[in-house]
Amino acid sequence: MNDFQSYEDVERAIDELVEKEIIQGRFMRTLLDGAFTEEQIKEFALQYSYYSRNFPRTLGAAIMAVLPEDDWWVPLADNLWDEGGRGNPERYHSRLYWTFLTSAAPDVPTNEKYVPDWPVSPVVEEAINTLIQFLKVATPLEAMAAIGLGSEFFAGRVMGLIAKGLQHPNYNRSRKLDVRFWSIHADEHEPRHYQLCKDVLKRYQDPKDYQLMYRAGSYIARSEARMYDGLYERMMAIGR
Ligand SMILES: [Fe+2]
Ligand SMILES: [Fe+2]
Repeated sequence: MNDFQSYEDVERAIDELVEKEIIQGRFMRTLLDGAFTEEQIKEFALQYSYYSRNFPRTLGAAIMAVLPEDDWWVPLADNLWDEGGRGNPERYHSRLYWTFLTSAAPDVPTNEKYVPDWPVSPVVEEAINTLIQFLKVATPLEAMAAIGLGSEFFAGRVMGLIAKGLQHPNYNRSRKLDVRFWSIHADEHEPRHYQLCKDVLKRYQDPKDYQLMYRAGSYIARSEARMYDGLYERMMAIGR
């Protein structure tokens, strides 16, 4: 069992987990090597659209789980409001994702809500369900740690790497991928989203709290790692 003496110890442990299970995982390595086909990238874009459009629901579930106090729910609502383009429909993240989706899967029709007409893989449903089920029974601190340490803490780094991988020339031969969804999240949104959660988490300084934060964060981070791994398998099943 990890022995956490500071908040930074918890961050380090999550960082190691993310490095090993996501950054060094099969999906990310193959993506960065340019070793997927355009067809496989298209499948990734279609599947991740489900994760992306369901993410606001997880923030809503987190708001349900935290204390009914402004300093707990307002940071989550702030994060959620980014998903809604801060009120501007032109900037809905579903629409922002759609700019990527249509560049990667131009032949797949999407409806007026930007949802593609395409079957959803159980691995992305599982990742969303895991998060929502966890939040249904989480304590306020567990909920904030699940969103903060289990997602926002490393989302910028992971999405930045995905943006980088998608720009590989191999994926941009027959069409040019629009990676703004990924780069905007990496550079602007995620660092701020994490800070919003961290401001609350840092108020807890008992080693028992650190343990609890790590357990919640690592549980959700591992679930995301399994999603990327499952997507890798689905993409490989399409053939090369
Ligand atoms: Fe977003
Ligand atoms: Fe975020």
